[in-house]
Amino acid sequence: MIPFNRPSLVGRELEFMQTAVEQGHASAEGPFSKQATAVINDAIGSVDALLTTSCTAALEMSAMMVDVSPGDTVVVPSFGFVTTALAFARQGAKILFCDIEDQQLGLDPRHLDELMDDTVRAVVPIHYAGIGCDLDGIAKVMEKWPKASLVEDNAHGLFGTYRGRPLGSFGRFSTLSFHETKNFICGEGGALVVNDAADVDRAHVLYDKGTNRRAFLHGQVDKYSWQDTGSSFGLSDVLAGYLQGQLDERATILARRQHAFDRYYEALKPRSAELGYTLPVVPDHCEQAYHMFFTLLPDADTRNRVLKTLNDDEIYATFHYVPLHSAPGGQRVAARPSECPVTDDISARLLRLPFYTSIDDADLDRVVDAFLTALS
Ligand SMILES: Cc1ncc(COP(=O)(O)O)c(C=O)c1O
Repeated sequence: MIPFNRPSLVGRELEFMQTAVEQGHASAEGPFSKQATAVINDAIGSVDALLTTSCTAALEMSAMMVDVSPGDTVVVPSFGFVTTALAFARQGAKILFCDIEDQQLGLDPRHLDELMDDTVRAVVPIHYAGIGCDLDGIAKVMEKWPKASLVEDNAHGLFGTYRGRPLGSFGRFSTLSFHETKNFICGEGGALVVNDAADVDRAHVLYDKGTNRRAFLHGQVDKYSWQDTGSSFGLSDVLAGYLQGQLDERATILARRQHAFDRYYEALKPRSAELGYTLPVVPDHCEQAYHMFFTLLPDADTRNRVLKTLNDDEIYATFHYVPLHSAPGGQRVAARPSECPVTDDISARLLRLPFYTSIDDADLDRVVDAFLTALS
């Protein structure tokens, strides 16, 4: 059996989790949280990073931070994760579903240009598979709409770059995921990355259950009290210890994932034209984060047939995002109906192969053989 994902233990994760308890600070913002935050800030060049219980929680914080209110809209790729949109809809925004372009499968600036108007408070692109989306094209469109903030959903892209700049450093905010399926994990976890110093204080109030506890801890007020909206967003230091164990081994994790990606790519490239599938396109100006390996099959029937054959063979390849714009939940929160033909097409043809940090060459080769046999 080859699972789609297997959570990893690469270094001192378990030891750090025990230390987190023994050193007497197991709740949020403990010593391991500080270390992990420093690694993230150093990698992204951000002014602050707040570890959260999930990327979803970080997206919800960003929705509170951009102050979306009824009448406002937020642009989200239809080829996206449910909570990329839901986080903003929960805050009362209506969603404008944007199509993707067919190369990096990121938000399409041409469709974005058609959707933008002065109700838009945020644009939330995804760096799908850890490959930078068209940030230049998006910035060009957004220049005309200064009231809209860029929030990068960087769940897949920690340590990836775009024109030499870290993914997650372009938006007013960006968000990370440390869910067990991601590159760096702690079971469930995430981070809100803050790139504008003017947002730091309020982000901490929202993070601290709507209180000015941070100002109190810094000796700026003599007691802390309820100030603003917020929730209990913080990641336990036990899980931050797990995360720090992974971040310490980031070179090893990225090297193993790059190896897996390259082995699939080299094995599959030679037969792609003959069998009619395509592989990820990583432009020269992007360093990808090696988050996943996907292929696009010629049509939906072929994708579904190959998926079934692999699954019958106990190789758990899988599909990915079901279009948000036509899902019942998406239709309920849409500002207006929009057409996303590329999303519909890609969603029906995309297949993700098993991909995780500890996958070995024998399993990678077995997946390749089974995939090519299923298609031949
Ligand atoms: C692009 C994207 N954003 C957000 C999420 C949600 O992450 P989490 O499970 O950490 O809330 C996912 C989950 O896979 C995702 O793919």
